[in-house]
Amino acid sequence: MSKQDFAERLIAWQADCGRHDLPWQQHRDPYRVWLSEIMLQQTQVETVIPYYHRFLARFPTLADLAAAPLEAVLSLWSGLGYYARARNLHKAAQIVMTELGGLFPRRAEDIARLPGIGRSTAAAIAAFCFGERVPILDGNVKRVLCRVFGVEGFPGERTVERRLWSLAEELLPARGIERYIQAQMDLGAMICTRARPTCARCPLATACVARQQGRTAELPTVRPRKTPPRRTIQVAVVRAGNAVLLERRPPAGIWGGLLALPEAGPSGAAAWVAQRFGTLAGGSELPALTHAFTHFVLEIRPWLVDLPDTPPLAADGNLHWQALDVLDQAPLPTPVRTILQRLR
Ligand code: ADE
Repeated sequence: MSKQDFAERLIAWQADCGRHDLPWQQHRDPYRVWLSEIMLQQTQVETVIPYYHRFLARFPTLADLAAAPLEAVLSLWSGLGYYARARNLHKAAQIVMTELGGLFPRRAEDIARLPGIGRSTAAAIAAFCFGERVPILDGNVKRVLCRVFGVEGFPGERTVERRLWSLAEELLPARGIERYIQAQMDLGAMICTRARPTCARCPLATACVARQQGRTAELPTVRPRKTPPRRTIQVAVVRAGNAVLLERRPPAGIWGGLLALPEAGPSGAAAWVAQRFGTLAGGSELPALTHAFTHFVLEIRPWLVDLPDTPPLAADGNLHWQALDVLDQAPLPTPVRTILQRLR
């Protein structure tokens, strides 16, 4: 698929299958388009529609909005959330009235100088209202580009985002910017959805890298976790002579089926031993160790308790005395093996 094909396919698809009857598509008034684009940030179309109508009924023009007290604006926004959007909208309306002679700027570059309007929103307004040939790059468009062109990396990362902006720039059609912009919004909302995209109805499916590689669930790449969550457990190291107490893990979950040190509850390993064996043997803390799993880091805090002999265990239970000198054949998770080897 050539760069030109991308836009052509989208434009043809939008004409046949896109949305044409949304309230803000009925006007090219920048005030109304701006209002809709702000309301549509982080908010579904169906939620926005009644708010949009109420807002315009109360503030039919940008001048009305600028003259209103902030309280009135906020109360019409009440329930939509992200109230900074409403405060910025009000402030921007006042700037347009007092500093720009009541004329909404026409170029994306100038629109983006108003508070609360980012590069993509400014581009959408300029394209819809004034036909300016500028790319948008909202969350939906990022998703479509990452999938179709197989762009790797988290799109919120600066280098990835820069790459996507230049790709978006290169893909702009010579003609039909308004329909093209709407097509990208529609495709992201209707077809190329975050979960379970309907590729069978996508005009770009035959060229889509993610589709070809079966990776629509992996692209776009999710935000890398800065620090994986950390779980801390206390384990009991119950030693009786040359034997140590191990517990077979349930078949599902971490270390399923392996022999591990018994995990004590929140009251700690000493209490666990006291409850289980009716002894208050004291004990001592062993050095903690950490083990990294795919999705979390486990911190293991072992507590050593020495018993004078090996008390009998229920035959059908999961507990089991393990001789310390034959650890090699035992099915032990690595950190458990480490703890036991340090004991020898
Ligand atoms: N989401 C953001 N802008 C939109 C628009 N103009 N139409 C539909 N959904 C949108």
